[in-house]
Formats: sequence, C-alpha cells, structure tokens
Amino acid sequence: MTDSLTVRDNRTGVEYEVPITDGAIRASEFGKIRTDEDEPGLAVYDPGFTNTASCRSSITYIDGDKGILEYRGYPIEQLAEQSTFLEVAYLLIHGSLPTKAEYDAWEHEITFHTFVHENIKSFMQGFRYDAHPMGMLMASVGALSTFYPDASNIADADIRNLQIVRMIAKMPTLGAWAYRHAQGKPYIYPDNDLSYTGNFLSMLFKMSETKYAGDERIVKALDTLLILHADHEQNCSANAVRSVGSSQVDPYSAVAAGVGALYGPLHGGANEAVLKMLKRIGSKENIPAFIEGVKAGDERLMGFGHRVYKNYDPRAKLIKKACDDVFEVTGVNPLLEIAQELEKIALEDEYFVKRKLYPNVDFYSGLIYEALEFPPEMFTVLFAIGRTPGWLAQWLELVQDKEQKIARPKQIYTGERRLDFVPAAQRWA
Ligand code: SDX
Repeated sequence: MTDSLTVRDNRTGVEYEVPITDGAIRASEFGKIRTDEDEPGLAVYDPGFTNTASCRSSITYIDGDKGILEYRGYPIEQLAEQSTFLEVAYLLIHGSLPTKAEYDAWEHEITFHTFVHENIKSFMQGFRYDAHPMGMLMASVGALSTFYPDASNIADADIRNLQIVRMIAKMPTLGAWAYRHAQGKPYIYPDNDLSYTGNFLSMLFKMSETKYAGDERIVKALDTLLILHADHEQNCSANAVRSVGSSQVDPYSAVAAGVGALYGPLHGGANEAVLKMLKRIGSKENIPAFIEGVKAGDERLMGFGHRVYKNYDPRAKLIKKACDDVFEVTGVNPLLEIAQELEKIALEDEYFVKRKLYPNVDFYSGLIYEALEFPPEMFTVLFAIGRTPGWLAQWLELVQDKEQKIARPKQIYTGERRLDFVPAAQRWA
C-alpha cells in the first residue's frame, strides 16, 4: 500500500499515479490528465473552496469535528484563561510565546505606535454622519498605505515588522474614531499609560474626565474576546488577505481586503446580524415561528453553522462564559434569555442536528458588545481589531512561503464563443 491514488482516465484507458502528501493531492497532478497533448489538462472545480487547501500553515489548527482550536499549538481555552491579547498577538506573529524582554519590547513598540497621522482624522470626518464603521475602517486601513509608502518593500523583514506593529497598534485607534464619528463625539487620542485594551476603551468612551478608568472586569472580558477572535486559519477574510497579498501589494491594502471580507453577514458581520435577529424575534414565544421560517428557507439562524466546526465552536462556549463576567457589571442582557432558548431548541431540532449547525463565535459575542453599550454596527469592528494579528500572521507566512505565487484560479467557461460583432448602427437600425 502506498500514499498515492491510481487514477484511471476512462476516456483514454491511461492510469496515473497521484501522490498523497499530508492528506492532500496536488491539483497540478490532475493537470497532467488529458485526452490529447494540445488539450488542457483536468482542473478541479471547488466553488467556495469547500475542499481545497490553499497553503501550508503552522499558525492555527482547527479540528471541526472535535471542536478544537489551537493558536501555534496552544489550546484556545488556556490562552483565553491565562494569556493577554497582546501576548497572543506576539505568539501568532512570531510563532512562540515571548520572553519577558521580548514581551516588554513588543508592548512598548505597540504602545508607541497607537497614534495615526492627523490627516486620518480629517479623512474620517469626510464620511456621512451615519457611515457604517466597517466601511470607515476598511477605507482607513487602506488609506494608511499612502502614509507609509515604504510598506510596499515587503521583502525587507524590518519593514514588514514595523507595518505589523503599526497595524496592531493603530486598529483600535481607527475603530474607536469610527465609533466617535458615528456618535458625533470628539476623537480621543491614545493614552500610553493604559493597557492595550484599556486604551481602546478610553478612546471609545472617555468624555470630560481627565483619565478614563474602565472597570477591570470589562477590560479583562474585552481582552478575552479579542483573544478569541485573533485567528481562525483560512477563513474568508484570511483568504482575502492572502489572495490580495499574493500580488505583493503592501500589507495595509491586503488587510483592508480582509476587513471588507469580514464585513459580510455570512462572516464577521454575523454578530451584528445575530443581535438584529434576536431583537426581531423579540420574545421566547416567537421562537417556534422563527424556527419554522428558518426551515422554510425564509430565515437564516445567524450565529449558527460553520464551514469547519461540525460541533460546538469552542469560542462560543468561552464567550458564553465571558457573558457572565460582563453581566455581573452591566446587568444581564434581556436578549440572553431568547438566545439561550433559541440555542436549546436548535440543538434538539432534527433540521439543525442533521446539518450539524451549532452556535459559532458570533452567536453570543453581540450580547456582550451590546451590554457594553456598543451599537450593533461596531460589533464587526471589534471582531476586526481582534483578527488583525491573525491576518498579519497569515500575510507574513504567505510572503515568506517560497511555494506561494499570485492567486489566479481557473474557471469553467459557460458563455458564448466566436460571435461576430454587429456595429450599433446596424443593430439599432
Ligand atoms: C465566522 O470560516 C471561519 O472560520 C469563519 C469564522 C472566523 O473565525 O473567521 O469562524 C467567523 O464567519 C462564523 C460564521 C458566522 N456566520 C453566521 O453565523 C451566518 C449563518 N451561518 C451560515 O450562513 C453558514 O453556516 C456559514 C456561512 C457559516 C457556513 O456556510 P457553508 O459551510 O457554506 O454551509 P452551507 O451554507 O452550504 O449550509 C449547509 C446547509 C444548507 O442547508 P441545505 O442546503 O443542505 O438544506 O446548512 C444550512 C444551509 O441552508 N445552513 C443553515 C445555516 N447555516 C447553514 N440553515 C439555517 N441557518 C444557518 N445559520
């Protein structure tokens, strides 16, 4: 027995040996299978890449059937319980946990890169009063590439590291300023005396007090939420960052593409959609009718289901736990009861059980964000701030991977061929 496939092309009777490596076969092997020398070889057709590996990666491991998630080999449960977001960001980017000296240098670098060019402020003030903060974030991250033209020199390790530090440091500033813009409040500058997450809360909520002091339980809960969102292997937005990054553009433009992908309601936008769904359901009594609507295909149970997890998303469990800590401070979110009843019914209902639809990371996170008085439009911005180190770790791995090349998939052409053009004058006569 060997690690290979023997593929027989019944059109020609020819057999091909296709090696199996790490549980995969190279699509290019199928390119060798052709009926005729000048015919193109076989392609593999996989809409949405449901069964296609785009890269080799050592950043994040997920076992969807067992509900396992590890960053650089460390179980998410241990990191959420014992680490901090900045330490996890270091782990994702550098591949190992920092020594004290490494952590102190990392924290210092991030702290002293939280400011953005003043022009970003006037750029942001150009948005309508009701602009969605994710649209503002996507535009602002992309705009940063024009303030740091040296970032396009992606072959230089020091330049790469400086942009990584800048983006992790500035994402909360951009996110907080998008929020303040929507609220019509003055922008708050970073406060370097505060922790990464404490400073983020200060830029969001500080008013006339000289120093903002967030409740430590809230700071800790938000820091944990950022950890839980930090990376998730080749999700839609990581794939967008890698695809755009494969053209060798600067990392700001690649991450802006990731923000755009995360914005979608099937991806990071689901946390905002969950809250709107819970509000629309309104009471436990309305849940059965809503569930019927889902089964009829008129509704989608937002916050449920996952391409990889066919078990409970481990992050959803941890977020549910963080709910208790936050609600201790803010009071229980009345929508929690509807969410818990919805989960209970869905986990017993054949429709969901058959499709292995479990709560994902977005199902409970919105309840916490709302209890922290974030408007729903800000929920995905919080997701993006958490995911920034993950996107950058994926980008860094891509640019250093000798096997990678510009992303340019094939297609199956279904259109017309060789039509003769008829000029407009004749067509309209
Ligand atoms: C994130 O990839 C990642 O890792 C993403 C993420 C990350 O950390 O980066 O984990 C973050 O994006 C979490 C997912 C957030 N999205 C939602 O909660 C939106 C609701 N969920 C879905 O739309 C859906 O489950 C996806 C998009 C998450 C996954 O979609 P797939 O893998 O393409 O599955 P599918 O749409 O083909 O669904 C398979 C079946 C279908 O039914 P049938 O056609 O077989 O009858 O399950 C049904 C779907 O209709 N289905 C749902 C459903 N999700 C799937 N039916 C009702 N409600 C749902 N939520």
